[in-house]
Amino acid sequence: MPGTGPWPLTADRGDGGVLTIGGVAVTDLARDHQTPLWVVDEADLRERCRRYVDGFPGVDVTYASKAWCTVGLLQLVDEEGLLIDVASGGEMHTALLAGVDAAKLIFHGNNKSVEELDRALEVGVGRIVCDSFDELDRLQALAVARDVVAKVWLRITPGIDAHTHEYVRTGHDDAKFGFTLSLGLADDALLHAQKLDHLDVVGIHAHIGSQIFGTDPFIANAEVTLDLMARWRDEHGVTLTELNLGGGMGIRYTHEDHPVEVARYGKAVLETVTERCEALDFPWPRLIVEPGRAIVGPSTITLYEIGTVKPLPGLTTWVSVDGGMSDNIRPALYDAEHEVALASRRSEAEPRSVTVVGKHCESGDLVREHAPLPGDLAVGDLLAVAATGAYTASMASNYNRLPRPAAVMVKDGEVRELVRRETMEDLVRLDVPLR
Ligand SMILES: Cc1ncc(COP(=O)(O)O)c(C=O)c1O
Repeated sequence: MPGTGPWPLTADRGDGGVLTIGGVAVTDLARDHQTPLWVVDEADLRERCRRYVDGFPGVDVTYASKAWCTVGLLQLVDEEGLLIDVASGGEMHTALLAGVDAAKLIFHGNNKSVEELDRALEVGVGRIVCDSFDELDRLQALAVARDVVAKVWLRITPGIDAHTHEYVRTGHDDAKFGFTLSLGLADDALLHAQKLDHLDVVGIHAHIGSQIFGTDPFIANAEVTLDLMARWRDEHGVTLTELNLGGGMGIRYTHEDHPVEVARYGKAVLETVTERCEALDFPWPRLIVEPGRAIVGPSTITLYEIGTVKPLPGLTTWVSVDGGMSDNIRPALYDAEHEVALASRRSEAEPRSVTVVGKHCESGDLVREHAPLPGDLAVGDLLAVAATGAYTASMASNYNRLPRPAAVMVKDGEVRELVRRETMEDLVRLDVPLR
């Protein structure tokens, strides 16, 4: 397991086979910070930021903070020179609190509120990605009131099927996001926005989906969007200068996943842009990519403690841990699979197939079905679940009134807290008693 497959870069096995991350034994982390616990490998996270920056020379790499948004994480990503995509007032607030320059923020969302848009104008967010005609008009009115000109991108729905889970596809025609190209709405949006004197349309944005393997959908996205920009120059006399190709690069959750290397993806996209710009005689635009999952997903494991082991003869062996769908909804939501390993000791026992479940009152509360784990798995053992940095903590809930876990970041034997564990007081903080 160490440092391979879906496990973070510094994952290793120490004395007695105890899993270590960033040089820290997970048994020490569980003792000092309790479980469930998100453990972020700082070296891995920084390395993934750098691979993106190196793999996309000259491109503005932007971290999609919806993947996981905490003040500390955004500070780290900012230090690595990435811009930050925010998709709500809350994510924007977190980024500002993290000390990120508002000009480095890109504001997304298919239904941004008046308050959110106004705040974006107030603080001077770098780019606002307009998603609908309603929003164009709303933003124009707000920009007039503030006497500012907002720099915007139009979110295009390019008609590309990214062959990924239905819930994370966004580029196909019948999507809730953006202006559908095939229906002529993208053109209508451009023409409409041109009439709004407090909006400056400088580019387009197209994000086709998430957890995408292979480069073909990304290449198709670059081709379709550049063709559109060239056509707008020819037909409408408007030469846009910025192109955001979205995020979506797949990552490894298990040994069966084989995502492309960032460098290969970068090369494929940049070659496509070069060829297409030449063919269309179109000036090279400012390019932006917007990965979330591929930055933060693989850097993190979740540590759980086993509370019960229930072998049903001839049926399933159920292994229950102290968290579940409230800290990782992905298996229940997308049938997602994460690799699981015994983390607190070495075991020579023959592996057997067990189903690891959470402690929630739902049969769908799965951590991993049919996981091959050592046959001597016992109460008190720690399990590590791989690649849980993206869309887990950010989608966490308090279902069954479980306090949300803490998150720590480890590096060279040092542990830093990123998020403190919720307390029982936190859980009832907003409740208003009737008596
Ligand atoms: C507009 C936009 N950009 C970027 C992303 C990040 O996608 P991923 O985490 O798959 O890289 C998303 C994800 O939903 C998105 O909606």
